[in-house]
Amino acid sequence: MNPPTVDVHLDADYFAEALRADVREGLAASAKFLPPKWFYDAAGSELFEAITGLPEYYPTRAEREILAAHADDVARTTGAHTLVELGSGSSEKTRLLLDALTAYGTLRQFVPLDVSESALREATRRIAGDYRNLMVHGVVGDFTEHLDLLPGGTPRLIAFLGGTVGNFMPPERAKLLAMIRDACGSDGWLLLGTDLIKDPATLLAAYDDAAGVTARFNRNLLQVLNRELGADFDVDAFEHVAAWDEDNAWIEMRLRAMRRMTVRIPLVDMDVHLADGEQIRTEISAKFRPEQIMTELTDSGFDTRHSWTDDLGRYVVTLARACD
Ligand code: SAH
Ligand code: AVI
Repeated sequence: MNPPTVDVHLDADYFAEALRADVREGLAASAKFLPPKWFYDAAGSELFEAITGLPEYYPTRAEREILAAHADDVARTTGAHTLVELGSGSSEKTRLLLDALTAYGTLRQFVPLDVSESALREATRRIAGDYRNLMVHGVVGDFTEHLDLLPGGTPRLIAFLGGTVGNFMPPERAKLLAMIRDACGSDGWLLLGTDLIKDPATLLAAYDDAAGVTARFNRNLLQVLNRELGADFDVDAFEHVAAWDEDNAWIEMRLRAMRRMTVRIPLVDMDVHLADGEQIRTEISAKFRPEQIMTELTDSGFDTRHSWTDDLGRYVVTLARACD
């Protein structure tokens, strides 16, 4: 077995400065917000994995069903030598792609990239153990910042699964897709997972499960700020909120202060005042119309070749070629 290698582009200083900048901006805004990438410390990554197994959270199961049915098509169509996975997490579903691409005989290298060092190290260790002829080269990084530091050359097949592209506002999403297009290289490919618009009750249940795991995932963000920035958020004084924004077609997760409070955040030298009932937006999770996905991909320099849905029509995986 080749031991996995891991490049770390988010060292402690970089990580701390990026978090401070996001907190300064988001908690000083009139409508307070925090970017969702800070959910994923070790505890947050574990909570996300727990979410993927919840009865209400259908996207992971729907995407797995699609990959099980079409990973062979991906292998035949792309003949990829390098598979990069952005926001790879546990890379569990990705095994379906690894199996198909190794059976097809072209795959040499797997490059998972994630902001969560714990999730990335665990995933690279497991995958390298199970795919002994594969070079596994993990990257701890931010896919909005570090795509030009990906190891190996182009063309690449880049998988961006789980619906994570939906966690970006439309302008940032367009920018990110264009950067991914450049990282694929000419003759490269993107495999994109996106959740579809459906009835609000199904969507809301997926983001507000009966067991309260999503609520713990959401509140964990405040634990991250307490630990990393010395903040004194009373985490139990915040309520998890999931709301469907019909006009924007996204689920919004927020944390609602259940009383008036002032939170001290020493490492950014801020006192944050929250009114009773005031909310901090912590995530958007956009849901798509199938034709919208194709349009956004075309606008970012991709040519859609295949688009597959699960049997219940809840989710789409799209295979697109990077245009010259
Ligand atoms: N792809 C997996 C995990 C999805 S959860 C799946 O489909 O189940 C989102 C993942 O993206 C998490 O592992 C999180 O740590 C990672 N992530 C979020 N924002 C990121 C960013 N800006 N750069 C790199 N990774 C990010
Ligand atoms: C990673 N991302 C696509 C998940 C989502 O569904 O937007 C994160 C998540 N938030 C709450 N539950 C899961």
